[in-house]
Amino acid sequence: QIRRGKCSGNGQVNQSVEKDKAKVVHAFDIEDLGDKEAFCRCWRSKTFPKCDGSHVGHNKATGDNVGPLCLSRKSA
Ligand code: FES
Repeated sequence: QIRRGKCSGNGQVNQSVEKDKAKVVHAFDIEDLGDKEAFCRCWRSKTFPKCDGSHVGHNKATGDNVGPLCLSRKSA
């Protein structure tokens, strides 16, 4: 069974991040990332592109199951 969350109605995933731009792109130098980082994939984070936990409320409200992309540096 496939559960589908509520849709905004316009088909857009991005509801609020940098809507004045034609395309939202963020770039980081790998060397500048710390040992751990979580990047938002739900587009609801107030600290986008980093995850702030907003996906929890989104999932509860919609029945969705999205979560962050978590990066961690291997210890040497
Ligand atoms: Fe978007 Fe966590 S806030 S994935």
